[in-house]
Amino acid sequence: MSQLPPGSRLPALVQSVHAARDPLGSVRRLRRAHGPIFTRRLISEAPQVVVADVAAARQVFADPTGAGLVGCPRKRLFESVVGEHSLFTMDGPAWERHHRLLAPALQGRAIEAWRDTIAEITDREIAGWPAHRAFPLHRAMRRIALEVIVRLVWGARLPERRGRLRVLAPRMLDRLSLAALVMPPRVRDRVLTANGFTDLRERLDEVLFAEITDRRRQHGSKSGGARGQHGSESGNGRRQHGSKRGSGSGDGDGDGDGDGDGDGDMLSRLVGEEEDDQAVRDEMVTLLLAGHETTAAGLAWAFERLLRTPRVWERLRDEPEDEEFLQAVVRETLRIRPVALTGHRRLVAPMEILGYEIPAGCSVLPMIRLIHQDPAVFPDPAAFRPDRFLGDEAGPAMRAWLPFGHGARYCVGARLAMLTMRTVISRVAASTDLAAPDPRPESQQLRQVTVTPGSGTRAVARPRRREPLFT
Ligand code: HEM
Repeated sequence: MSQLPPGSRLPALVQSVHAARDPLGSVRRLRRAHGPIFTRRLISEAPQVVVADVAAARQVFADPTGAGLVGCPRKRLFESVVGEHSLFTMDGPAWERHHRLLAPALQGRAIEAWRDTIAEITDREIAGWPAHRAFPLHRAMRRIALEVIVRLVWGARLPERRGRLRVLAPRMLDRLSLAALVMPPRVRDRVLTANGFTDLRERLDEVLFAEITDRRRQHGSKSGGARGQHGSESGNGRRQHGSKRGSGSGDGDGDGDGDGDGDGDMLSRLVGEEEDDQAVRDEMVTLLLAGHETTAAGLAWAFERLLRTPRVWERLRDEPEDEEFLQAVVRETLRIRPVALTGHRRLVAPMEILGYEIPAGCSVLPMIRLIHQDPAVFPDPAAFRPDRFLGDEAGPAMRAWLPFGHGARYCVGARLAMLTMRTVISRVAASTDLAAPDPRPESQQLRQVTVTPGSGTRAVARPRRREPLFT
C-alpha cells in the first residue's frame, strides 16, 4: 500500500499562493488533474490530503476508529476568537460534556418552537427594506440570523446588553481574515490588535462576563447557593470573572418582545451546568459567531440563486408555505453553494482512505465543495434544481449532501439553520417582489471561513404585487 496520494509538484510556497488567491478554483484544478484523492502542501502546514469522493468523505467525517482530531486543527485557527473551551476547539471528554449540555436545546422540537419568533424577526426586517432601490440582501440576512441566535442563547432580557452584542459580534467578524488566522500566533495577535479586532473582542467579553455574573447570582439565589452540578464557588484555577461592570440585576427586565424567560435560554442553562466563566463565555461566542454568519451566508446564496432562476422563484411565490419545496430549495442552495468549503481532521493514527495508508500527522480534508459538484452524484451540477431533492432522486442526492458534515461532529446548529432558512425564504416570497439588478451570477468569495456572494446579493425590493415579476 502506498503512502500519500499524488498531488502538485509545485513548491509549497507556490501552492499556498494558489490556495490563498483562488481557494475554489485551485482545488477544482487539482481534482481534475489527480482524481478524487490528492495531496496538497502548504507552507507551515502538515501535508493535506484532500478527499473528493462521497464514501471516503463520509468515512473521514464519521471516523469510526477515532484516528482524526477536529478540535485540534481548529484550535490553531480559532483559539483567538472562540477560546479553547468551545465545542469548536475541543476534543475528547471535554467536548462530549459540552455537547451533551448544548445539543438538546438545538434539536428537534426545541428548535421547531422558534418558528414563529423567526417569522416575526423576518417580517420586522422586511418592513424596513427600501423600495425600488438596490440594497445588499446579505446584510439584511445577517441582521435576521444574528437576532435569532441572540434570542436563542440570551433570551429576552436586558435589551441594552443584547443590543451591544448585536453591534459588536458582526463588527468583530468583519475584522477577522483567514490570512491573519493562519499566521504564527505572535504575528496574528499583532495584526488582530492593529485592526481593532482585539479591542472589539474585549468589549464583547465585558458584556458577556457581566451577564454571566448576574446569572450566577440569580441561579445561586434560586438553587440555594449551589452552583450547578459542581457546586463549588471557585478555586479551580480557571477564570472566575465576578465583574460588576455594566451591571443590572437581569431580573425580568426584558423588553417584552421576546420569548426567553431567563431560564429557558442557553446561557442560563450553561451557567447552571458549567462552573467555569471562561468556558461559558467561549461557548457563547461560538454560538453567536458560528450561529449567524453561516446561516446568513446560506440565505444570501439562496436569494442570489433564486433571483436568477425565475422558474423556481415563481413556484415559491405561488406556494410560499410548501414546506417540502422550501426544504428542497434550502438543500439545493447548500449543495450548489456550501458555505463551508471543507471539513478538517488531523490524524493521530494512520487512516486507510481509498487504498492509501495516510500517516499520523497529516491533515485530511473532506472537500464538501468538490463532492457537491461531482456530476456522478449530482447530474448537471451547475444547475440550480431543487427538484433533485424531491421524489426518487432525493435518496442518492441526500447521501452525497454534506454541507453540515457528518458523524459525531455534525454541525450542532444544522436544525436551527435549516428552519431559519426555510422560514425566512417563505416570508420573503410571500410578501415581497424581489429582483436582481444585475442578471450575472455573483462571484464566490471566501470570507473568513464562509463562502459568500461577492456583491452581497444586491436586490431591488417592492411590496408584492399580483402580476408576476418575471415575464
Ligand atoms: C447554513 C448554516 C450552517 C452551515 C453550512 C454549517 C456548517 C458546519 C460544518 C461544515 C461544520 C463542521 C462539521 C465537521 O467538521 O464535521 C459545523 C460545525 C459547527 N457548527 Fe455549523 N453550520 C451552520 C450553522 C450553524 C449554526 C446556526 C450554529 C449554532 C447554533 C452552528 C454551530 C456549529 C458548531 C458549534 C460547530 C462545531 C461542532 C462540533 O465540532 O462539535 N452552525 N457547521
